[in-house]
Amino acid sequence: MLPLPNAPLGIIAAMPEEIEQLLEQLHQDPSMEMVSVGQRNYYVGSLWQQPCIVTLARIGKVAAATTVAALIHQFGVRAILFTGVAGGLGADLQIGDIVIAGSLMQHDVDASPLFPRHQIPMLNRSCFAPCPLLTEALMQASHNFIASTLESATAHTPVRRLPKVHLGLIVSGDQFISDKSARTALRAAIPDALAVEMEGGAIAQVCYEYDIPFAVMRTISDAADEDAPGSFSDFLNHVAGVYSYGVVHHFIRASL
Ligand code: ADE
Repeated sequence: MLPLPNAPLGIIAAMPEEIEQLLEQLHQDPSMEMVSVGQRNYYVGSLWQQPCIVTLARIGKVAAATTVAALIHQFGVRAILFTGVAGGLGADLQIGDIVIAGSLMQHDVDASPLFPRHQIPMLNRSCFAPCPLLTEALMQASHNFIASTLESATAHTPVRRLPKVHLGLIVSGDQFISDKSARTALRAAIPDALAVEMEGGAIAQVCYEYDIPFAVMRTISDAADEDAPGSFSDFLNHVAGVYSYGVVHHFIRASL
């Protein structure tokens, strides 16, 4: 099925906290419907007058891949946006910064010596590039979100540093990275990686195979070290949804 220009935008996250405000907004649309497929709920409606489908993939590469496949096959989405949190790997990243994927890899793929490490067997590639237009729009939306929401919220409070927006390599695997040795090994294996999470590379592979434009936005919730479990939970409970809602809001408003 070829996506129609007015087909919906698919918006996915891995954890409920990352999309709860977006779902509340979608529930304002009186014509919104929930469709259940493969143990997932797809909320079909409009966000700020744009047809959208918001869904929770759950955690990990398989969960993400099946959800994207359903969005493509069952719902005919025109594009996919993934939003959520990630562990920071890059040296100048801080918790609260936003990373937009410039490319994505699956750090846990290793079919060597049959294929080079990280290469997806029989696809002949290890890196996937998101849609440049959607990626640029996400960068802009992230800057606008920080300027309009965070700058004014902190205008009268001393803050050490406003969040920064980074563009670069996001790596994905079916592991939560939470110790220094795993972090160090990952940075040694893939020195360019800015952030690590558990879904983006799988979404990128499915979208590549079906030629569906996509973009990925991640907020840094932890430093993928021993403090990661606590930092991740705090961030998820208090901040992640605000970022997802804010950036997606700016993104959709700009596309009107
Ligand atoms: N998502 C958020 N933090 C993460 C981490 N440290 N490892 C993997 N996925 C993550």
